[in-house]
Amino acid sequence: MKIITFEGIEGVGKSTQIQMLEEYLKNKDYSIEILREPGSTDAGEKIRDILLNSPLTLSNESELLLMFSARAQLINEKILNSDKDIILFDRFYDASIAYQGYGRGLSLNVINSLIKFSNCPTPDITFLLDIVVEEGFKRKFNDKKDRIESAGNSFFQKVRNGYLELANQNKDRIKVVDASMTIDTIHKHIVKIIDKLL
Ligand code: TMP
Repeated sequence: MKIITFEGIEGVGKSTQIQMLEEYLKNKDYSIEILREPGSTDAGEKIRDILLNSPLTLSNESELLLMFSARAQLINEKILNSDKDIILFDRFYDASIAYQGYGRGLSLNVINSLIKFSNCPTPDITFLLDIVVEEGFKRKFNDKKDRIESAGNSFFQKVRNGYLELANQNKDRIKVVDASMTIDTIHKHIVKIIDKLL
């Protein structure tokens, strides 16, 4: 089984690229599962609702632990015994490093311990779709902002820089893709890398 993850700040076009890649891989007869985080299990979707859509106050620590609570459930239910050829993740643990670590300022050591504790497999490849914060938000202009999206530009600047720092530290695994290119150009770029992986 291969694990391919997609990361990036809001508005970079992850979902579109995941759908296009799913179609490409299905045409090659691979069995595919798409998982989004937080969520993708019954418990995980309830946790997602608390994290993103509820009016509840959450401390940064509580936010981090809820992300990992949903993640631990997902790994147990959908990853450890998966019979799929390829799992495509719409965000995975790098998001906790970027958002809760670099964005909220929580300890990267604690986050790395949680990654180990919850048995997170290391992705075979990660696509970091990168765009300037203002451009990402322009694309999501009409959407209602959820709890994390309401955090403001300086928070997302830290998240973006965190992702780029992570990519710099994991050059073999994390491929930075310029998300200001056209949808088709990005897809072709991704497919070229995937063809080498499979
Ligand atoms: P999305 O699935 O619509 O992109 O929303 C998920 C939101 O949750 C997004 O703002 C990123 C955030 N998030 C974290 O802060 N930490 C995490 O570990 C994950 C998976 C997501």
